[in-house]
Amino acid sequence: MREFVYYSKSAVTAGNFIKDDLMKAGRMDIVCNVIISTFFISNEMRDDVKLHLIFDGPPKPPRHLILESNQEMPISKKNIAGLIKKLLYKSPDKEGLKEIMPGCSAEKKSFEHLVNELDKDGKDVFLLEGRGKDIRDLELKGDEVYIIGDHEGFPKDKKKFLKMIDKISVSPKTLFASQVITIINNEIDRQI
Ligand SMILES: C[S@@+](CC[C@H](N)C(=O)[O-])C[C@H]1O[C@@H](n2cnc3c(N)ncnc32)[C@H](O)[C@@H]1O
Repeated sequence: MREFVYYSKSAVTAGNFIKDDLMKAGRMDIVCNVIISTFFISNEMRDDVKLHLIFDGPPKPPRHLILESNQEMPISKKNIAGLIKKLLYKSPDKEGLKEIMPGCSAEKKSFEHLVNELDKDGKDVFLLEGRGKDIRDLELKGDEVYIIGDHEGFPKDKKKFLKMIDKISVSPKTLFASQVITIINNEIDRQI
């Protein structure tokens, strides 16, 4: 199963912080696009993908939301913001993963903790960066982990933490996080 980790320093961490204007909720509009690019293809949903969302914005960071392909996952393009809101409302303040709906869970976990865990699990972990190695020069197995930043990229401390991670690039242009995910999905689809 391919996995994406989307990190946002500004995405809010409580359901009641998400109002009508998603941009004011720490760019939750970008998160919605990321979810669409991860899971949706024409007339069906991908069945082999897991998305980790790490939100580090106010009022109670960090939050780790997990969405995993699952036929019962209650996801519709029309109400993705509502789904995120619900996951944040029900996200536990204490340590420990809580399944909130089929295919959707939440916990209080930091970005560093998650990346270290994925690495310890033996996964091939890549950081998406414009100056990285071209993804087309890699042999993909479709079970890699791809880490992507939000509209501001990664803050200094996260960049330092990510120094040892292999960097890969998908384009000579700087793209939206959601576009990067579409390209990665496509590159994997073409190779496996
Ligand atoms: C909108 S970009 C962030 C732009 C931000 N100003 C910066 O300098 O990092 C969002 C994320 O998409 C990924 N990204 C954007 N363009 C990319 C490219 N050509 N190759 C690989 N990753 C890319 C990076 O992970 C980046 O953090």
